[in-house]
Amino acid sequence: MMDWLIALHAGLPRLGPGSDTATRRALADCVGLPAVPEILDVGCGSGASSLVLAEATAGRITAVDRVPLFLRELRIRAQARGLDGRIHPLVADMHALPFRSAAFDLIWSEGAIYIMGFDAGLTHWHSLLRPRGWLVVSELSWLTDHPPADLRDYWREGYPGMRNVADNLAAASSLGWEPVGHFPLSADAWTIDYSGPLQARLPSFRAAHADDPDAQAVADMTEQEIALMTDAAGTCGYVFYILRRIG
Ligand SMILES: C[S@@+](CC[C@H](N)C(=O)[O-])C[C@H]1O[C@@H](n2cnc3c(N)ncnc32)[C@H](O)[C@@H]1O
Repeated sequence: MMDWLIALHAGLPRLGPGSDTATRRALADCVGLPAVPEILDVGCGSGASSLVLAEATAGRITAVDRVPLFLRELRIRAQARGLDGRIHPLVADMHALPFRSAAFDLIWSEGAIYIMGFDAGLTHWHSLLRPRGWLVVSELSWLTDHPPADLRDYWREGYPGMRNVADNLAAASSLGWEPVGHFPLSADAWTIDYSGPLQARLPSFRAAHADDPDAQAVADMTEQEIALMTDAAGTCGYVFYILRRIG
């Protein structure tokens, strides 16, 4: 299944909801970064956010993902924009990142911290930041306390750790972070930048793998999630959390 998910997403501009505008907006909240920051992008995929971070700062970006194919795409994109000297793709597992303590000024992760869970990510990555360093993550969050039953049931099974914004901010505070800002992704960041290109890919993906039940199941699952989330505007969605290490 995982191989089919990778095949379905290969070559898309983004592998999760987000937009260059939202990345730049969150970065603007990181006031006081060094002139040449050391930045780590966790679960970078094909590098949508790494490229923006490299363009918007003079920093060095270590871009980590566990899928070599996505990192190859990032390398090609970085070369095309003349950013390959400052973006360093690395195959690694976010659960066991191979870096020394206090190596980074800023850790970034769009649409990927859910893989280990919000609290686990905030705990494991804390020591990789210099004191008062910044952590910026986007995380699927409830935007209402009374979601429709179909959506509630879907995410209760798909992502049981999903919480509302207030609870995520409280968790961050209790885990040694100062919440500096947060904002939900706009509807466009879901439709134009992510689900639109993914949906457009589905017919050719289905046709190319018509005899493979696993490929069809991945297409079905993707279609179901797109339909649910397109109807979910204002009920749940990705929220950027901008946090600062305390101490
Ligand atoms: C939803 S995608 C987001 C990608 C990218 N941040 C973006 O917004 O386009 C999640 C990414 O996490 C990566 N990933 C999954 N498990 C991982 C792990 N254990 N360690 C590192 N990366 C992982 C996937 O390969 C994928 O690229």
